[in-house]
Amino acid sequence: MPCLAFDVFGTLIDTHGMLDLLRRYVGDEKALPFAVLWRDKQLEYAFRRSMMNRYEPFDVCTGDALAYCIDALNVSLTQAQHSALIERYQQLPVYPDVAECLHALRERGDMQVYALTNGPQQQVARLFERAAIDRYFEDIVSVDEIGRYKPDPAVYRHFLDRTGAGGSDSWLISSNTFDVIGAGAAGMNSIWVRRTEQQRMDPWGDRPTHTIRTLLELGTLF
Ligand code: 2OP
Repeated sequence: MPCLAFDVFGTLIDTHGMLDLLRRYVGDEKALPFAVLWRDKQLEYAFRRSMMNRYEPFDVCTGDALAYCIDALNVSLTQAQHSALIERYQQLPVYPDVAECLHALRERGDMQVYALTNGPQQQVARLFERAAIDRYFEDIVSVDEIGRYKPDPAVYRHFLDRTGAGGSDSWLISSNTFDVIGAGAAGMNSIWVRRTEQQRMDPWGDRPTHTIRTLLELGTLF
């Protein structure tokens, strides 16, 4: 039975789901660059912490990245605005195609469905509960369990150990190209979710096994 590993942030959960707050706090011009830099720095800090053997949970990287953006983009936030942004990160919405895709997979009943995330297990569980998609997952496998971040191969190996799936039967589904390439390098199949033309694949590393434009295409691959 195929074993699916859904990435979470950027694939199921919209990491720009705080743009309305940013527009109010930092203005229309800076809101999008702020959101993009926040996400980029969050990932960079996670990668660097992993490489340095200085693991801290993903929300620490998120908070540190927010502090960087405030400084780099020269904006001032009140304490209440700062708290509201951090709070929103715990309540980010899912993309519109997520529930329908997961429901269709559940109806078929011929695949194992997991989440594999850099986020802390409990935080991701709360996001899933809020979006009423928690019932579709057998489990949430978090990097917290081993203290290394994706795309460290140890994370994908941990996923295979935890689920008992073989590499050739397991599929990482992600919008994040570093994740797609990381899973391929660790012996898993990969599906790149390219929702917009602007998303580019990196010019090196394993190619995704499949590329789809929306999660609704997923069912057609199996
Ligand atoms: C996740 O692991 C990579 O942020 C992405 O959920």
